[in-house]
Order: sequence, then structure tokens, then C-alpha cells
Amino acid sequence: MKFSSLLSQYTLLSLLPSTLAYPGMGEQLSQLQKSPNKKRNSGELLGDLKTLSSSQLTTIGSDIKAILQGSKSAESSTIDQSIPAGNVGTAACKADLCCVWKWIAYEMTAKFNGTSGRCTKFARAAVRLGFHDAGVWSTSSSYGGADGSILLTDEINRAENAGLELIAEQTKAWYNKYKAYGVTMADLIQFGANVATVVCPLGPRLRTFVGRKDNARAGPTGLLPAETDSADKLISLFKAKTIDAHDLVALVGAHTTSQQHKVDTSRDGDPQDSTPGLWDVAFYGETLSSSTPVRVLKFRSDVALSKHSEAKSEWQAFVSGQGHWNSVSDPSPFDYAKAYTRLSLLGVNNINDLKECTKVLPPERKSFVSQDQVILNRWLNGEFDQLNDMVDNAVMLTGVTTGGKKN
Ligand code: HEM
Repeated sequence: MKFSSLLSQYTLLSLLPSTLAYPGMGEQLSQLQKSPNKKRNSGELLGDLKTLSSSQLTTIGSDIKAILQGSKSAESSTIDQSIPAGNVGTAACKADLCCVWKWIAYEMTAKFNGTSGRCTKFARAAVRLGFHDAGVWSTSSSYGGADGSILLTDEINRAENAGLELIAEQTKAWYNKYKAYGVTMADLIQFGANVATVVCPLGPRLRTFVGRKDNARAGPTGLLPAETDSADKLISLFKAKTIDAHDLVALVGAHTTSQQHKVDTSRDGDPQDSTPGLWDVAFYGETLSSSTPVRVLKFRSDVALSKHSEAKSEWQAFVSGQGHWNSVSDPSPFDYAKAYTRLSLLGVNNINDLKECTKVLPPERKSFVSQDQVILNRWLNGEFDQLNDMVDNAVMLTGVTTGGKKN
């Protein structure tokens, strides 16, 4: 794709009005105001932050420490709308550490944003890829974590990574294009997850750090969850990663965008809530509900978690808590962003040396109007199999009506 076309997609996205509304937004905002910013987890520190004293911390190290401990937001709207200083490889571009990342953000945004405005299968898979690289770590591992090994070794061929083939291929292509400019696979994967999250409408804009080191050794096995795991098993698996039940509930909310391919192959592309490609909280309520559209396929792991004594009150709180789950206005409890930031730093032992490139991420979209909801609803209720790939690719389903008006 030509640069001009990439740039125009990026610019278009950045120009989307932030005044669009979506059903339930008022209720969610009022819920946000009511939500107490409760203490979330032990605030356990990670990597080198465990041993460095406060006086040894860089500004970034200190900010990340505060994020992990819950006293600072993991989200930021700081944005640099200028075009990059120069093409990758030029002296002007090299002079700004984030310049190469801006070029990468253009490419990723174009790949992750569908013509419907929802995020594409590549975006959803990029978030899952970020989890599956970083999540291969526990407090008893001496290696693994957010180290790029999922794509630098044969880790990607493990059964738990089925469904990630396309994003793996795409991310490797980006890596081969940009590695000469100092981009590590570990960073590229986490950067991709953060770009994807903010490209999904209503998705939070996470502070984005770079400087992770790559590892060409495949991570330890047995550290990723299965859809058939019990809630007890899931909670202890994540506790061993310093992620408590509350943060786990916030993280699995990423399934709000999801469309499964491997859990039930006879229902390829069926979503986990009625708003695939949208970073809303419908997933939480629909996982609890007994009446969801026929295409909604609930993961057994999500249903089990939603009922577990350590998880259910938080699950319930997210049902009408868009702002509780991720920020729609400040100050916010920023639960997903905080939990994902922790996840994205597992196994990273040079946190104090990381740099920040949040400014190159596209802007967040705090509201969204689904212009093809009428036909999407009929698809969700079991009609129109021929639209499966289009929904998976977040393509605008044209020729439909919204609110009684022809598009
Ligand atoms: C309880 C732990 C979890 C389990 C058992 C689980 C399981 C799964 C399964 C089985 C799929 C469907 C894969 C397919 O059939 O294509 C999936 C998709 C997905 N998961 Fe999870 N997951 C968990 C936690 C997480 C976390 C922590 C994140 C990210 C923060 C995440 C993000 C995603 C995303 C974005 C997708 C959608 C991928 C797509 O649409 O292609 N999951 N997960």
C-alpha cells in the first residue's frame, strides 16, 4: 500500500469526532463516577524495579512503578500529530527514538482498522499475540515473558497458539522491515497489542514503552491458560504471574472484541459477545446472560471465572462499568490498562531503562456509532453465513438501514 494511502487512513482515524455517542454511554459515565478506585492488587513489582531504590529510578522507571502500584494511570492521551521527521534510516528520523515507531504505527493502524470502524481480525489477534508472548512467564521462571520468543522460536507452533498464524506472519514481516532500525520483536509485539487496543473503538490508549530485549530461547511450557481450565486453575495460573483475580477479570475483557476460530471449528468466526471488534463491556453482561444472540459463543473459561467467588463481584462491576474497566474520562480506575501494562512487562529485567513512545499511537475513540448494526444483528442471530469473513475483517456491511434511514 502506498504511504499516502496509509497516511490518509491514519489521519482519517485521528479526525473521527469524539462526540459520537453509543447506547448506554450516559449510564456508563454515571457508573464511572460512582465507581470507587479500589486497591486492585498487591502492586507487586517486577524485574529490576524489585531491587532498585527510588533514587535510582529514571522518570520512566518511576512512572512504571507507580502504574504497577496503582497510583498512576496507565493511559495517556499525549499525541504527536506531526508526520515523522524523516523516512526510516534518515538522520532526522534516527534523531527521534519514536520516529520509526510512528511509521510502524501507520502500518498497524491501517491493518487494524476496518471500514466499518470496528477493529479487524488482525487487531484482535495482535492483542492475543501480546498476551501469548508475555504470558509465558511465572515468578518461578528464570526466562520467558515479553521477550519476542513466540515469533523468534518455534513457540508459535504450540497448540495454545493456534489461531495466531496470520498475525504471526504479519508481525514477522514488520520485524524484517524495521529490525535494522533498532526495533526488537519483543517491543514490536507489545506495541502491536497497544496499537490494536486503541484502534478498537472505545479501547484505552495505553502508555507504550520500548526497549525490551529479545530472547531466542523458547519460553517455558504449561504457562498459558486453556479454554477448558477451571476458574481455580486460571486464578492460580495468573497469580503466579503476579496478576490477581481482579486483574484477570479485567484482562479477559479483551474477549469483548474476539471472534473464535479454534474452540469450535464448526462455528468459525463466532464472536464472544454481540459487539465483535468493539472494546465495550457487553462481553461481561452477556457472559452472565442466558439470552444472547445464537452466534455468541461463550468460552467455558469465561463463564467459570464469572461465577468464581474471587472474581464474580468484579465481573458484575464491569457489566455496566465501561469507565471502571477502561477510561472514558479522567480520573479513571483504568483497570484493563493497568493490568495489561503489568502483563506486557513480565520477564522484562530492564524496566528502568525503557523509553516511552505513547505519542505515536493513534487517538482513542471514546464513542462509536455502528452504522451497519441492523444487518450485523441479523448475522448475530444466525442469518447470512456468507458475511462471516466480512464481519471477521470488520468490513462495513453496506446497503443496510440504521434507525430507519437508508445509508
Ligand atoms: C482465562 C484466560 C484466557 C483463556 C482461557 C483464553 C482463551 C482464548 C481462546 C480459546 C481464544 C479463541 C482462539 C481461537 O479460537 O481463535 C481466545 C481469543 C482471544 N483472547 Fe483469550 N484467553 C484468556 C485470556 C486472555 C487475555 C489475558 C487476553 C489479553 C489481554 C486475551 C485476549 C484474547 C483476544 C483479543 C482474543 C481474540 C482473538 C481473535 O479474535 O482472533 N485472552 N482466548
